[in-house]
Amino acid sequence: MSRTYVITGAASGIGRSTAELLTERGNRVIGVDIHNADVNVDLSTAEGRTDLVTQVADASGGTIDAIIANAGLASPTVATVAVNFFGAVATLEGLRPLLSGSSAPRAVTTASMASLFPADKVLLDALLAGDEPAALARGAELADSPELSAQIYGTTKQALAKWVRRNAATEPWAGAGVPLNAIAPGVVATPMTADLTDSEEARKALLQQVPMPLNGIFEPRDVAYLLAWLSSEENAHLCGQVVFIDGGSDVVIRGDSTW
Ligand SMILES: NC(=O)c1ccc[n+]([C@@H]2O[C@H](COP(=O)([O-])OP(=O)(O)OC[C@H]3O[C@@H](n4cnc5c(N)ncnc54)[C@H](O)[C@@H]3O)[C@@H](O)[C@H]2O)c1
Repeated sequence: MSRTYVITGAASGIGRSTAELLTERGNRVIGVDIHNADVNVDLSTAEGRTDLVTQVADASGGTIDAIIANAGLASPTVATVAVNFFGAVATLEGLRPLLSGSSAPRAVTTASMASLFPADKVLLDALLAGDEPAALARGAELADSPELSAQIYGTTKQALAKWVRRNAATEPWAGAGVPLNAIAPGVVATPMTADLTDSEEARKALLQQVPMPLNGIFEPRDVAYLLAWLSSEENAHLCGQVVFIDGGSDVVIRGDSTW
């Protein structure tokens, strides 16, 4: 049966590949991005997040079956704070009411294995408190520091994964029959990582930081299969899981310490 999916970050990389896969399978996809999408909005701004909800409601006729909150940035900038956490949460919360007419509503967001890297505690606390002005202010401080700016990305992704853990079992999500989960990819060959993977030397250095013993760097289509399943009717009981699709970096870094 055809379902209606909303995918953010649909103009490139993982989002585009997921949109293609779901369309090939006969579904309707409403792609969202800052450009080149069905719905063009800037998820770093309050206005863009409001427009997202209005435009998706219009385009869908008021009912959708799944939200894939995937848009993100990897630059060590304040915009990354705004998009990766507040843009993703606004997508999930803003579009959630449109799931109420679906017989199999689903929601998934794209975190990262970088959520395992040491986080900046001040930024993490501000994100988890939902305090965007404080988070943006700390993001600006980190962005100005050559030693600390690299922590911005992983911190936003750790906060997003924790937000999923904190919210998945609550009344608006599990209580409404909506599985809410996240994925945590390792290194995927997309425009986001092109500079990091364009030479043998660069790939070697990256794989030291992100060890992926199982089949190494992979393609966006490999991630699309997982996002498609997590947002499908078949996934009715996964609640608040952060699924690492990372060629093994999570097990290399954390071993069995998650118990
Ligand atoms: N590529 C990787 O190795 C990797 C690893 C882990 C997690 N991720 C995550 O996967 C997701 C997709 O990344 P990708 O690798 O496909 O990158 P990508 O750069 O190819 O695609 C990201 C998309 O998000 C959109 N976007 C960025 N800012 C936006 C904004 N303000 N408003 C609306 N759209 C915006 C971009 O325009 C782009 O189309 C991101 O959340 C990223 O952090 C990627």
